[in-house]
Amino acid sequence: MRDYKIAPSILSADFSRLGEDVKAVIDAGADIVHFDVMDNHYVPNLTIGPLVCSALRSFGIKEIIDVHLMIKPVDRIIPDFAEAGADYITFHPEASDHVDRTVNLIRESGCKPGLVLNPASSLTYLDNCLDSIDMILLMSVNPGFGGQKFIDSTLNKITKVRSLIDKAGKDIRLEVDGGINIDNIAEVAKAGADTFVAGSAIFNSNDYAKTIKSMKDKLQSIK
Ligand code: DX5
Ligand code: ZN
Repeated sequence: MRDYKIAPSILSADFSRLGEDVKAVIDAGADIVHFDVMDNHYVPNLTIGPLVCSALRSFGIKEIIDVHLMIKPVDRIIPDFAEAGADYITFHPEASDHVDRTVNLIRESGCKPGLVLNPASSLTYLDNCLDSIDMILLMSVNPGFGGQKFIDSTLNKITKVRSLIDKAGKDIRLEVDGGINIDNIAEVAKAGADTFVAGSAIFNSNDYAKTIKSMKDKLQSIK
């Protein structure tokens, strides 16, 4: 079995008591904190920045924080997120004028770099990056909002990226983000993903532990 990880997107958490809600989801079995950063420019929504990441660390959150940057420009804010305690930092290549420079900047800042590909983004972005990244994040919705429906054509893309990673023999996490729930997580895993972002499916459920366990049970059952 792959080393599957569940990454709740805190976009759907209760922001009035964010530290407690993130702790609750971790205590319920989540593996990674998915931290969505939106700028009302690259995407039509506005969320949180490094101060909030740093506040979660001060609150005592020790798990991996996976910062998903949906911002343009990208580079200026990277050192701030590194300083604030980010582990992974992923960005959309369309939002950077110099993708390789941004990847290097993330690495030099002490974090693990990753590329995010939108539903209509070409896989050719990966051609010259596989040696230098630790994560590929495939969007299964158009970025900007939680609670959207999974776009089925992503499954085919996941399979293609899995094969690229395996052929390259690289230790790169393949994360999928958007519309993942108990009913479709197994299909997403079978296509080749190993890291599953889920916002509304977890935070809008009444019992985080039960929801995460159901997701992990589905993953366990994959042959
Ligand atoms: C969308 C964000 C996602 C979002 C996922 O732009 O990147 O992480 O919060 O939310 P759900 O799981 O509700 O689709
Ligand atoms: Zn995200």
